[in-house]
Amino acid sequence: MSKIVMEGCRRLSGTVTIHGAKNSALPLLSAALMADGVTELQNCPGLSDVEACVAILRHLGCRVEREGHRILVDNSGLCTSDVPDELMREMRSSIVFLGAIASKTGRAVLSFPGGCELGPRPIDLHLSALRQLGMVIEEERGKLRCRVRGRLKGCQIPLAFPSVGATENILLAAATAEGTTTILNAAREPEIQDLCSFLNSCGAKITGAGEGTITVQGVERLTACCHRVIPDRIETATYMAAAAVTGGSLVLKGVEPSHVATLFPVFEEMGCNVAVWQNELLITAPTRLRRVKSVRTMPYPGFPTDAQALIMAMACVADGTSVFIENIFENRYKHAGELMRLGAKIKVEGRVAVVEGVPVLSGAPVECTDLRGGAALVLAGLAAEGETTITALHHLERGYESIEDSLAAVGAQIRRVEE
Ligand code: UD1
Repeated sequence: MSKIVMEGCRRLSGTVTIHGAKNSALPLLSAALMADGVTELQNCPGLSDVEACVAILRHLGCRVEREGHRILVDNSGLCTSDVPDELMREMRSSIVFLGAIASKTGRAVLSFPGGCELGPRPIDLHLSALRQLGMVIEEERGKLRCRVRGRLKGCQIPLAFPSVGATENILLAAATAEGTTTILNAAREPEIQDLCSFLNSCGAKITGAGEGTITVQGVERLTACCHRVIPDRIETATYMAAAAVTGGSLVLKGVEPSHVATLFPVFEEMGCNVAVWQNELLITAPTRLRRVKSVRTMPYPGFPTDAQALIMAMACVADGTSVFIENIFENRYKHAGELMRLGAKIKVEGRVAVVEGVPVLSGAPVECTDLRGGAALVLAGLAAEGETTITALHHLERGYESIEDSLAAVGAQIRRVEE
């Protein structure tokens, strides 16, 4: 078992280079199985979720090579449409393979992804949309058995909620469907735009990405291309928060400022100064953060749910009381209990959390509860006096490439210990 051992209260200063976005890399790897030839994805982060996608692609018969942050996917050996349960369980978001596998091979057998650490994670919107496109989906004993007769048929799909995963599955399925598909109330996240730009480079005809209505004119086939994954906006937010909780100053390189602009008002309200130029961002934090009045998570371009735990770690040491309202996931405050072990004062009531800032946290043993909750513990550890140890690191490895090395390089006292 590995753990992170850290001593907090050290001001961070220096430069961190941001990796490619996890939430882009996953649907892009799924899309790669549809594109004939060898797809090259650059800037793919080294994460366990990416490895889980690579394992699924290899199981399906694709040849996958990885050199650093570059992944090559050759789909010419595609020979099966079944994803075994153990591969599906590796990663909840593996449901994004459904649209790609079924539209490419005419069938797919996947196990039902079930719940996750953020509460129940239904896929009703995915299934209903794919059925509207003509996919026959049977749900039996935890399995989804899907068939497509001929090609899927484009249609108008209104989404009751702008689900990121459902929008991705529709895009993948509709890209090679017959006729035109219109997604109404589509998710507008930058990762959706990245997927559309990849699919278009492969020959798809998609317009409206980044807007509420996306139109997909189906094409017969997709051809492999070379694509660079966009920077990870949540990793960017994490290092911004790391500077913030330590009263530090960090330059973040390789970022896309427009994707994190929605976070700037919160950092500024808490007393930080943010300056951007091209693909760099400089954040400078005050000695003591101020409270943020309220943070309400919303679909993009609203405040991202994935950054809620990060800002909560900042609020724990801010001057005053901050209020959080989580509107996307039902059970996204598990980290609150662990933050309280470090001396944070938090009250959770349903979708609302109230955080009363304290001058300093105190180090303690804590356990990651989920990916972003784990990152919040690292941030809290940076702001805590004495030693903090963090276990259950598999959650962190899903979304952060060598976070301890990046933080140590800018002045944090943090190391990973293998036991
Ligand atoms: C993606 C991101 C995740 C982020 C989330 C919201 C990936 C791999 N993950 O997850 O990091 O936190 O967007 O920005 O990109 N819902 C339904 N029925 C459905 C689908 C979703 O009720 O069929 C609900 C979910 O339970 C949740 C909400 O809609 O409450 C948001 O889900 P969705 O936007 O689909 O998130 P994911 O794609 O799972």
